[in-house]
Amino acid sequence: LQLDPDELHTADFVVVANRLPVDKETLPDGSIRWKRSPGGLVTALEPILRSQTGAWVGWSGVPDSNDNPVVDGLQLISVPLSASEINDYYEGFSNATLWPLYHDVLVKPEYHREWWNAYVEVNRRFAEAASAAASDGAMVWIQDYQLQLVPKMLRMLRPDLKIGFFLHIPFPPVELFMQLPWRTEIVEGLLGADLIGFHLPGGAQNFLYLARRLAGQATSKGTVGVRSKFGVVQVGFRHVRVGAFPISIDSGALDAESRSRKIRARAAEIRTELGNPSTIMLGVDRLDYTKGIDVRLQALSELLAEGRIDPSDTVMIQLATPSRERVDSYIQMRAGIEQLVGNINGTYGEVAHQVVQYLHRPVDRDELIAFFVAADVMLVTPLRDGMNLVAKEYVACRSDLGGALVLSEFTGAAAELRSAYQANPYDLDGVKDAIMAAVNQDDEEGRRRMRALRRQVLAHDVSRWAKSFLGVLGSTQETASSANRG
Ligand code: ADP
Ligand code: F6P
Repeated sequence: LQLDPDELHTADFVVVANRLPVDKETLPDGSIRWKRSPGGLVTALEPILRSQTGAWVGWSGVPDSNDNPVVDGLQLISVPLSASEINDYYEGFSNATLWPLYHDVLVKPEYHREWWNAYVEVNRRFAEAASAAASDGAMVWIQDYQLQLVPKMLRMLRPDLKIGFFLHIPFPPVELFMQLPWRTEIVEGLLGADLIGFHLPGGAQNFLYLARRLAGQATSKGTVGVRSKFGVVQVGFRHVRVGAFPISIDSGALDAESRSRKIRARAAEIRTELGNPSTIMLGVDRLDYTKGIDVRLQALSELLAEGRIDPSDTVMIQLATPSRERVDSYIQMRAGIEQLVGNINGTYGEVAHQVVQYLHRPVDRDELIAFFVAADVMLVTPLRDGMNLVAKEYVACRSDLGGALVLSEFTGAAAELRSAYQANPYDLDGVKDAIMAAVNQDDEEGRRRMRALRRQVLAHDVSRWAKSFLGVLGSTQETASSANRG
């Protein structure tokens, strides 16, 4: 890490995340461009850091880069990763061990000691970078499963800091977590924080149980609420608080942008380009096996075969951002999805009309909003997802009260978006029925549902999420003793 001596220990607020909010790209002429990095974490945190001064510590997305640029007014601090660390820490331990383990073991997690060693080493480097950036008594907010050892490492370096940790993915039930050979180290790593946040009360409760069982700490036993009734773990003289803070989006900004004339015109143009079908369905995801893209394609395929959906009058658009492209399970999943798309189009398409329009690339923000405005039915069908911001983005973009949301019960968002057409993604007939109910909903019913969904999403935006987390973190020592104890 090369931090200018003038910048050492100057930031009162530091976000630490595996990725910087932008990825470094070297153009053919050798010049550098910083482009937005993928995923929900960046979507959520970017507006927060813009609204207050601070630094963002993370990896630039390419090997061996140690730039510390200011991009759009944000101080970025790179943690350089070598090619072998990208392989072992990021693609290996983070995304072939922890990711599948925390997502219901949808693919088999791999346990390799050399991956774990790289995870420990890289977490140490992140802790050192955060320590170098933070001012005396600063607030440091560590993000997500890639950095679960950082809270403890940072506390050892800088006991003066207020340290928060938020997990953006599900925290698994004890039966699955116990597979992990380094389960105690992970729990103890997290317990270095003053406040540990999860999306849902269930994740917080899973963690409290493990803190008792694996780390042998005394914990509260009462139920954890949403943004309330925090759990407490007693670690020596410290009280670590544990809570549920469902993440969200900048819903007001999306609502405003989606109302613009330019976006409306583009949405109408998309409909025309698709040949004005009666129904446009939409999926928007990182290309990840947790997202259930195969589930919705399978459902569509059966509905077409049964004649319940007319292929000449329906289009499904699937936007899929490339993700973790060197990890085996992602390579296999991509092949499976592209085969399903090919099967559907080969069987039901015409030369002038493809039933599934599949784009394997990110689209820019305005274009994405226009797709949301144009879509009659939004398909969000993950087999497991910590939250799923796409579902909330769709709702925020529907000020016209049009459209319908089909939502998997196994997303964090399902706990809040009760008026969606919810389905169990493992029950294909249930998914098909939910899709048909959404396609055939009458206008009044659709407006009633969308109004209720919008009330939830507009009232609970990302700024409320951050304020509630940081508010509790800011008050940790003072009020820990008054928190719920069982
Ligand atoms: P995850 O964090 O697992 O990627 P989320 O649904 O919570 O899932 O967040 C994904 C974010 O990435 C959303 O803000 C969404 O709009 C954005 N996104 C996903 N796919 C695309 C795409 N093809 N083009 C542009 N943005 C995308
Ligand atoms: O929350 C899920 C998450 O893994 C984030 O941590 C991450 O920023 C995003 O998805 C995208 O994944 P990746 O950084 O591996 O491309």
